[in-house]
Amino acid sequence: MDQNENDDNFMKIFKYYKSNKPKPSMENVLSVEDKNHVEKVVPLIGNSLSDNRTEFLGLKNFQSWQLYSFPGHPGLFLIRNPFTGIGQRYWIRKCLEEYPRKPNITNIDIEVVIDDWWRECYIDGTCNRQLLKKLRWTTLGYHHNWDTKVYSDNNRTTFPEDLAELSDVVASYLEYSGYKAEAAIVNYYHMKSTLSAHTDHSEVNLQAPLFSFSFGQSAIFLLGGQEKSTVPSAILVQSGDILIMSQQARVCYHAVPKILPAKSSPWDYDSKVLIDNEMPTFKYIKSPKNLISSLNCNTDDKIWSKYRDYVRESRINMNVRQVLNENQTNLADPVFIDK
Ligand code: OGA
Ligand code: MN
Repeated sequence: MDQNENDDNFMKIFKYYKSNKPKPSMENVLSVEDKNHVEKVVPLIGNSLSDNRTEFLGLKNFQSWQLYSFPGHPGLFLIRNPFTGIGQRYWIRKCLEEYPRKPNITNIDIEVVIDDWWRECYIDGTCNRQLLKKLRWTTLGYHHNWDTKVYSDNNRTTFPEDLAELSDVVASYLEYSGYKAEAAIVNYYHMKSTLSAHTDHSEVNLQAPLFSFSFGQSAIFLLGGQEKSTVPSAILVQSGDILIMSQQARVCYHAVPKILPAKSSPWDYDSKVLIDNEMPTFKYIKSPKNLISSLNCNTDDKIWSKYRDYVRESRINMNVRQVLNENQTNLADPVFIDK
């Protein structure tokens, strides 16, 4: 059967940006800092009310956040690195040290089940680089089933409190009510890694936005339409950036054809200690004291050097989703739709 030649427009652009020889031009890559694309990347005014949880989650005040929309892609938004230096360190470290631990699931489990990947990488004092490079993803909460793409109540573990709280703060900034982080894929990319074109449609609730947090090295992110024939836009995503995929953009094809060296290392800026006076009320975090100490222990450059070494040649992406409808507590619950 003849395929329409437009069918693979997404693939053509993917291959263009993936290529090393010849190197792709960055001219059409949308960057929020580049004034050459003012009609394609438009700054918006976000919620300027403050949320007293921000600094305890490694975030700057809402007042200094920069929010952008993409007129060619309704529902797609980008918040340009709202993290503090210590905040970047906190989340990078969580993705390496804590999230890959059991009972969470990683790609390595298929080969050999490791309880604590990061610890195992450094078990004899030196770095096991082979094992370090093996980690490609970790799943949290409702564990994504890569084969069936179906979530199951039988394959669900506790979603990390801190990531639920972070997602809740982002949802409150964007004025999404009723948002709940219930599943996440943490992706680990090396300089030559790519993520091919896909849509994320396993969630029962496709009305809820998807939050995508990136740290470490930069990436070219492609967002197309609901068919692969749509020519995708290329967007530069840098450490600390949060991409929000909502409405139409939530169900569009997307991919990561290339990892690029970061222009700076924001995880090495302003790593100042936080004081635990006047703790805010958290929705998910049960032990705010522990949160403060896990933030503050990252100010020690020596302790932090292992994580720095990792992130110097990797990109980490926390891809957070709401799975259920607002009135469900698990997949078996009936769905009531208010009309
Ligand atoms: C995903 C995804 C994009 C990224 O995990 O589904 O699309 O930026 N990740 O890594
Ligand atoms: Mn995706």
